[in-house]
Amino acid sequence: MRGSAPSSHLRSLVTDEYAESAEYIDILISPFWDDFGPVLADAIKAIDPAGPVIDIGAGSGCGTLAIGDALPMAEIFAVEPSAGLRSALLAKVNAHESLRDRVTVLPEGFLEAELPDRLGLVVAMNVIGHFSSAERRDIWKLLAERLAPGGRAVLNLQPPSEAVDIPEALASTGSIGRRRYECRARAEPTGDGTLTWHMTYRTYQGDDVVDQREVSYSWHLVAEPQLRDELAQAGLRLHPLEPTDLGMYAITRT
Ligand SMILES: C[S@@+](CC[C@H](N)C(=O)[O-])C[C@H]1O[C@@H](n2cnc3c(N)ncnc32)[C@H](O)[C@@H]1O
Repeated sequence: MRGSAPSSHLRSLVTDEYAESAEYIDILISPFWDDFGPVLADAIKAIDPAGPVIDIGAGSGCGTLAIGDALPMAEIFAVEPSAGLRSALLAKVNAHESLRDRVTVLPEGFLEAELPDRLGLVVAMNVIGHFSSAERRDIWKLLAERLAPGGRAVLNLQPPSEAVDIPEALASTGSIGRRRYECRARAEPTGDGTLTWHMTYRTYQGDDVVDQREVSYSWHLVAEPQLRDELAQAGLRLHPLEPTDLGMYAITRT
């Protein structure tokens, strides 16, 4: 294992942008996994990972579960710096006997986590915009150095890839018992290749709003040609996955 492991009391150096919204995330992101899950499973099922799997920014564990099902023998490191989301992740891993013995949950940011020297698969779903271009360069370098022969990474690019205004719209909704949870999202360009997303999370009982949270965070834009370029500079290749409207890609060593 290599990496600049922080002492345990330091934990994550990453700002927790999900501290306010954590209880909403699993409910509101899981519907997207109905589409992402089968594509991810298809992209990884044939690989025989000659090293553990890393789930970068595992969130509440929807992807971790999909990886665990597709690769029933693989050891998985689920890296999740947000304490609230890590609670949901740990609960999901603990609830699945097939995961409990082989998923290790790491509380640092990906670039601060102590990771194995050889990696079979790296998954970065719905997370790459949290990394600046300099941080992405570090990620590609790490992949180029540590991906095992035959290994790969899988990630997605979330639209938009350009600095444009996104008017507010319903992003996701889901119900638990008598309550309905929703997220509305809008975004505005904030220069230097970033958008600022403004999310409003609400809980309804009937027509009454019983909880409301406002969260804003910065998202680094990257389009496919730029990503292809960055990867090529690190000696890596980008392969779009079908259906292409999901914006999912596999990355291999050249
Ligand atoms: C939109 S959520 C996606 C969660 C999960 N991958 C999914 O698709 O269900 C983004 C996740 O990235 C995590 N994250 C943000 N910065 C990170 C970093 N530097 N290293 C690792 N994870 C990070 C957040 O805490 C959050 O859980």
